[in-house]
Amino acid sequence: MPRCGVLLQSGGRVSVAENNEHDWTAGTVLAPLEPGPLPIIPKALWAEIQEWILAWKHADALRDEGLDAPGALLLYGPTGSGKTSLARAILKYLGGRPGCILEAHNVVTKMYGESPKNVARGFHLAEEHDALLVIEEIDAIGMKRQGRSDEENIKVTIALMRCLEGAKIPVIGTTNHVGHMDSALQRRFEIKVEVPTLDEKGRGIVLRKILGRDPEPELVALPLNDSIRIARRMRRREFLAACEEREKAA
Ligand SMILES: Nc1ncnc2c1ncn2[C@@H]1O[C@H](COP(=O)(O)OP(=O)(O)OP(=O)(O)O)[C@@H](O)[C@H]1O
Ligand SMILES: [Mg+2]
Repeated sequence: MPRCGVLLQSGGRVSVAENNEHDWTAGTVLAPLEPGPLPIIPKALWAEIQEWILAWKHADALRDEGLDAPGALLLYGPTGSGKTSLARAILKYLGGRPGCILEAHNVVTKMYGESPKNVARGFHLAEEHDALLVIEEIDAIGMKRQGRSDEENIKVTIALMRCLEGAKIPVIGTTNHVGHMDSALQRRFEIKVEVPTLDEKGRGIVLRKILGRDPEPELVALPLNDSIRIARRMRRREFLAACEEREKAA
């Protein structure tokens, strides 16, 4: 299976970068996704996702048996709840499949005018590489969210729905705003999973890992995005202070 570095240019020119190399040219809507560790998630949620992963790992065998792998998976939940981290972990557990990200927001801003074609090209490229395709902020596409009923917007929503229906690869959509999501688009996802924000205990575990010690209660009380940023800074400071001490002592 080739490593995926699928990149799509706004002008419609398509290039495939080797070895997952990033090519951060303006207008890129597909970027490589790297596998990552499993975030802390409720057991029942992970069990449901594992079933989806298992089916995609054996997609060919299922097809030979006249059975289909399950349709797309929607991960929804508040910002910072770990949806992207979970998508990276899913990629890891899919075992060897490359991964790509399509930022839906870019499709409706940077790609406006070319968007329906580029959505289809993105799916096509991902399929060529037998990749996991993760569509971030999927609610950015859809007639409901945009509040615009212009032709382009309808076309891109329909293009995305068609691609989802015919996809031969595992596709994950993520959103913070499931309520804003186009209902017809939502129906194209076979499995919808809510990724909850970590509770205090979970946040403590994440912060303990970063700090290498018990975190202060005030830090644990903060929203995870903020506390992670602060904890990383604290860890860096503590490490550098220790470096300075060692240098002075030497
Ligand atoms: N359940 C979790 N377990 C471990 N780490 C977590 C968890 N949730 C969030 N994090 C950490 O918080 C940070 C943000 O997580 P992530 O980007 O996956 O959230 P998200 O739901 O995709 O957010 P957004 O909706 O803003 O894109 C990451 O550093 C991640 O490691
Ligand atoms: Mg995210």
